[in-house]
Amino acid sequence: MTKIRAAITAIHGYVPEDILSNAELEKIVDTNDEWITTRTGIKERRILKGEGQGTSVMGAKAVQGLLEKRGIKPEEVDLLICSTVTPDMKFPATANLIAHKTGINNAFSFDTNAACSGFIYTLVTAAQFVESGRYKKVIVVGADKMSSIVDYTDRQTCVIFGDGAAAVLLEPTEEESGIMDHIFQSDGCGHIHLHMKAGGSAYPPTHENIDAREHYVYQEGQAVFKFAVKNMADVAVEVIERNNLKPEDIAWLVPHQANMRIIEAVSRRSGIPLDKVMVNIHKYGNTTNATIPLCLWEWENRMKKGDNIVLAAFGGGFTWGSIWLKWAYDPI
Ligand code: UT7
Repeated sequence: MTKIRAAITAIHGYVPEDILSNAELEKIVDTNDEWITTRTGIKERRILKGEGQGTSVMGAKAVQGLLEKRGIKPEEVDLLICSTVTPDMKFPATANLIAHKTGINNAFSFDTNAACSGFIYTLVTAAQFVESGRYKKVIVVGADKMSSIVDYTDRQTCVIFGDGAAAVLLEPTEEESGIMDHIFQSDGCGHIHLHMKAGGSAYPPTHENIDAREHYVYQEGQAVFKFAVKNMADVAVEVIERNNLKPEDIAWLVPHQANMRIIEAVSRRSGIPLDKVMVNIHKYGNTTNATIPLCLWEWENRMKKGDNIVLAAFGGGFTWGSIWLKWAYDPI
């Protein structure tokens, strides 16, 4: 029997219109464009503004665009999974809200969370549903409104993050394309270095923990930086080598966009030159679950059928991993 693989057959992204530039951040915290640019590579990020506007607003725009572009009706979709650390509400799942907003009413939907590795973990999770032969059209959304959990008095974190969303469609293929291999790992000891302490079941919201600003992202930047460089590079190299590929066989490396210095280090260590690395961090900052699919969206017309693409991510947890996929379509 021929193996069924899951291939990305459409992609669409959405970023809010409002831009938060380094110059504007200089007015909010003690920072400057030179520091942000040299230490992170970020020049500006997008911010979703407006009362009651949550992650699902951006996710729905990405999914809407995807359906229109691919010419499929909402009721044809079997499953929608949204990976996010900033759900609209604790429950219901943001995926339920996105499906409702886009008329996807003949499907089931749920959320996942693996911090910044969420999109790649969810892509492989979704692929299992397709590879089983039971589901034909599965959408994966990576979306985050990081501005809702970032402390704009903390100069070390507020300069990094931005808002955005992107969605991919997975469909079955019997060709040698789609998701070929992956290596994922996690280690919960990393939680001390990167977390949001309050607001969950361990520390439900109280006046005290809100006053202590514990309902915002807490990050020990240097510690996370070291783990990110090592683990992201190691796992990308491992996935390449165990499939008997060489760096020159890789058309594009798509790293999670957390810091330009991390991206450069992963490029160096994996032997994939920077001109083959997708980078959008200067425009959007770290959009957590949206960084990798937003890159794929922007590069859609530069990828060719059969291209070897390596995705690599590292994030809170700690979580990290890498996927090797063969791109399934030519520029449209
Ligand atoms: O996506 C999930 C995973 N997250 C990551 O991968 C993030 C990994 N970490 C990083 O990207 C970097 O560690 C940061 C961008 C967060 C920080 O950069 P860094 O080069 O590690 O800076 P640092 O924390 O070592 O701080 C260096 C100096 C300090 O001043 P002193 O103590 O040397 O006088 C900081 O207080 O830079 C100072 N600093 C700033 N200065 C101006 C920290 N933030 C800022 C700022 N503007 N925004």
